[in-house]
Amino acid sequence: MKTIIEPFKIKTVEPIRFTTRTEREHILSEAGHNLFNVHADDVLIDLLTDSGTSAMSAKQWAGIMEGDESYAGSKSFYRFEKIVKEITGFKHIIPTHQGRAAEKIIFSILGGEGRIVPNNTHFDTTRANVEMSGATAEDLPVAEGAIPSLVADFKGNMDLAALETLIKEKGKENIPICMLTVTNNSNGGQPVSMENIRKTSELCRTNGIPFFLDACRFAENAYFIKLREPGYGTKSVREIANEMFSYADGCTMSGKKDGLVNIGGFLAVNDDDLAQQARNILVVTEGFPTYGGLAGHDMEAIAQGFEEVLDEHYLKYRIRSVSFLGEKLGALGVPIIQPPGGHAIYLDARASLPHIPPQEFPGQALACEIYLQGGIRSCEIGSVMFGKTDPASGAFLPAKLELVRLAIPRRVYTQSHIDYVAECIGEVFKKRDQLGGMRIVSEPPVLRHFTARFEPIKSKQYHP
Ligand code: F0G
Repeated sequence: MKTIIEPFKIKTVEPIRFTTRTEREHILSEAGHNLFNVHADDVLIDLLTDSGTSAMSAKQWAGIMEGDESYAGSKSFYRFEKIVKEITGFKHIIPTHQGRAAEKIIFSILGGEGRIVPNNTHFDTTRANVEMSGATAEDLPVAEGAIPSLVADFKGNMDLAALETLIKEKGKENIPICMLTVTNNSNGGQPVSMENIRKTSELCRTNGIPFFLDACRFAENAYFIKLREPGYGTKSVREIANEMFSYADGCTMSGKKDGLVNIGGFLAVNDDDLAQQARNILVVTEGFPTYGGLAGHDMEAIAQGFEEVLDEHYLKYRIRSVSFLGEKLGALGVPIIQPPGGHAIYLDARASLPHIPPQEFPGQALACEIYLQGGIRSCEIGSVMFGKTDPASGAFLPAKLELVRLAIPRRVYTQSHIDYVAECIGEVFKKRDQLGGMRIVSEPPVLRHFTARFEPIKSKQYHP
């Protein structure tokens, strides 16, 4: 088999800054051992997120110049609306500044006290928006999704039996919307099968529950369906995406992922009343319906991004470059969520650092050491992000998994950058026994992982 190459050449470059380990020790300490507090300039390879970090194409930048900034009826809106409608088939396309603004709008309408919103796994902003409305967010991933080392095709699926039980027990009248996140970001970036999308939709339709996709990474999900699901190998990714959306009544979308843009998103719905209510909120909180939270030029860039993301040479390279990192780490013995997901590799910090208990945040300890080792920024997705304190007993309730996510920005890093990442993580893995845990020094009431400050419990990992 031939090497799968980047299906683009590089026209503009941006230098990255090298630092020494001693400099990074100082930087990390100033940042309260929270990589969200580190200045991007002090990062060599930034794998914090794949969101808003894509390299835009020459055509997208040209689109930025073409952007029509009219307040009402911008031609850029109509171009954006047309392509989104072609791909999703939804009737009303409501532009927002990013995914969470679409979530805020939909849950302010459909959420509320006593209501329950199921999802295969809520992303953190989705959960926060559900909970801010007073509703309860229920994660119902399939059991195999919870076993990091298990190799299976569609570990991102919804547990349909659990969804059926939830509907019976809580009552369909208390479930105003059911979501399905493709790919399942908080569960390893694992894809959801077409069969699971269809069956979730059928269950929702039988019970009269609106069914929405959280479609941030719809193109990557569609490509996995093409690769792995019987009957889809000869279909185009665009046809597969069309079919995925055809089962849903609407979607929330962050264009910062598979829109290949730095900012932007939308809410799409079929229901006319719901669209009217959403636009009423949009006008007050985001903007007029033909721009919402976006500049005309942003809508041009998303429209072009939507054309490019379904290019199968791009998707082949994209999915392969993520699995390439997974294979390299696997060869070094580093435990990761198997198989590699669409946008990221998730290191299994619990398996790497069994001597650090969850209340000492093994994922945070691992992410910090990876930064110290090679200037690589990653993101903890474990008990810092999802751990809680039981209000009654004061007991620590850990997250289900202790992960460190290495999210790969789209079209940004080359194969040698990825080789370097694997080498650095291999070095950290070799000295894993010397790593100690972390303690929280200060934290905000919600989404603490963004701003909490930490200190190392044992200092030896910082002076190996
Ligand atoms: N849903 C999913 C599955 C996401 O991954 C994200 C963002 C959102 C919704 C919210 O979109 O950022 O445009 O408001 N995920 C980013 C990440 C931040 O790093 O995974 P947004």
